[in-house]
Amino acid sequence: MADPTPQSWHRVDAYLTDTLVGHEPTLEQAVAQQNAAGLPPIEVAPVNGKLLHLLARISGARRVLEIGTLGAYSTIWLARALPDDGRVVTVEAEPHIADIARANLERAGVAEKVEIVLGRAADVLPTLEGGDPFDLVFIDADKESNTIYLDWAARLGRPGTVVVVDNTVRGGEVANPATENPQIIGVQRGLEMLGRDPRFDATAIQTLDAKGWDGIAVAIVV
Ligand code: DHB
Ligand code: MG
Repeated sequence: MADPTPQSWHRVDAYLTDTLVGHEPTLEQAVAQQNAAGLPPIEVAPVNGKLLHLLARISGARRVLEIGTLGAYSTIWLARALPDDGRVVTVEAEPHIADIARANLERAGVAEKVEIVLGRAADVLPTLEGGDPFDLVFIDADKESNTIYLDWAARLGRPGTVVVVDNTVRGGEVANPATENPQIIGVQRGLEMLGRDPRFDATAIQTLDAKGWDGIAVAIVV
């Protein structure tokens, strides 16, 4: 088997997207609106959005917590996985980004299932204590805070809650013990926590898709 080149893995990603995910117009519009507004093109790849959607359905999720909304591309995938009375609570620090997300959620017809909570996640998450537990938590914000977000995922979840962490490989840098990049160090600390903290059982996989060489961690709260 040949090793992947960027050209070959992008061709495979396009094939898998065409074959299994499709090109739903409101999802593609959400990305187009986000790009037109000048937000960074760092939403999850379509195959990854579909994976989040399937994980939510497989786990029977009704309440989803997303940390890091951006243009709400992944939020739409998650909201569409939920029953009519399901809810996504998504945390976004930047008001102008939340405005773009809200417009995309409305266009996608899922705005009534999504609550955008404005603020820095480390400030917002403690205010969510006391509600019904979340069934799935997707962590996709500033990587420096991954351990804080994982701690809140365990506290706001229940045994069986699914936790997904985006961007866990970062072009291979995750395996560089000498890195001085605070984002990579944040990813490493998060993965070490998932391996060591008895509240979690976890794995992570590398991904090669439209967003390059990266990965996701998937965990369950035990
Ligand atoms: C980047 C990608 C992401 O998915 C993210 O959540 C943050 C940053 C990036 O490529 O820089
Ligand atoms: Mg991400």
